[in-house]
Amino acid sequence: MRHLLSMADLDRDDIERLLNLADSFAEVGERQIPKVPALRGKTIAWLFYEDSTRTRLSFETAAKRLSADTMNFSVSSSSVNKGESLRDTVETVAAMGIDGIVVRHHGAGAPHRIAEWTDASVVNAGDGWHQHPTQSLLDLYTATRRLGSLDGRRIAIVGDIKHSRVARSNAIGFATMGAEVTFVGPQTLLPPSLEGWPVKVTHDLDEVIDEVDICYLLRMQLERQEQAVVPTLREFHEEYGLTTARADRLREDALIMHPGPMNRGVEIAGEVADRPNAVITEQVTNGIAVRMAVLYLLLGSGLDLVDTREAVA
Ligand code: CP
Repeated sequence: MRHLLSMADLDRDDIERLLNLADSFAEVGERQIPKVPALRGKTIAWLFYEDSTRTRLSFETAAKRLSADTMNFSVSSSSVNKGESLRDTVETVAAMGIDGIVVRHHGAGAPHRIAEWTDASVVNAGDGWHQHPTQSLLDLYTATRRLGSLDGRRIAIVGDIKHSRVARSNAIGFATMGAEVTFVGPQTLLPPSLEGWPVKVTHDLDEVIDEVDICYLLRMQLERQEQAVVPTLREFHEEYGLTTARADRLREDALIMHPGPMNRGVEIAGEVADRPNAVITEQVTNGIAVRMAVLYLLLGSGLDLVDTREAVA
């Protein structure tokens, strides 16, 4: 594997290998000096055409912990503002000598195009509504660490599914790991067609809330909506939000997950996001180890890696 563009490119063995390696890198993060020389001499460029807090900081931390050099690119202060195209920008950055590009772009498929224009390994850090594979991998890692095997586990992915690359990535990721995925949302927040998707669908959160192992809330993506898709945010919260009353109905060992950033009081009640079974900050912490594993496997020894001990030594 040279690029990480979509969860659809990974089979169960690939995911398990990544999660196992992430486990080794999580141990590195607990050391007094959380750094290994695994990617010394490698250079990674960040191309973030959309805002990010978690993904960008997490990738930057992961790269530093692997001793990689990084090249920061900020769209707001770059020649993109003078009209430079994506292709010219990528070729310019690549001409400076890079081994990897981590890209977030509003256009679905942009990372796939970039992979055609450069010899560097490309990691998709979110493309439009399409995919966010490292978010899915860190979610799988967090869920597996908490629950063990995901075979037969039930996950409800709730809310604004239509505009969510996280929902699309996690539907594939959790299904590949043997879980049963249910999308929960109003018709207006579901994609027009779910043919071929490994998911069930319901419009009634109360139908599934008592039985799920994971209740995964999605951010209401107001910036991607061209027209009102719910009557009011208060009504959406009552119908589809994880309210205090619904959270009380979850099984004791059920996890509450959210990719962030959260709209407290919309998809999740503020108080519920701080409960002990809400693992939202744990997802963020785990993201560093998972992204270390991704960068190492793409830029280090590759997926054929037999012995990962050298990476964490
Ligand atoms: N979950 C996620 O992608 O968050 P950011 O947009 O802050 O990177």
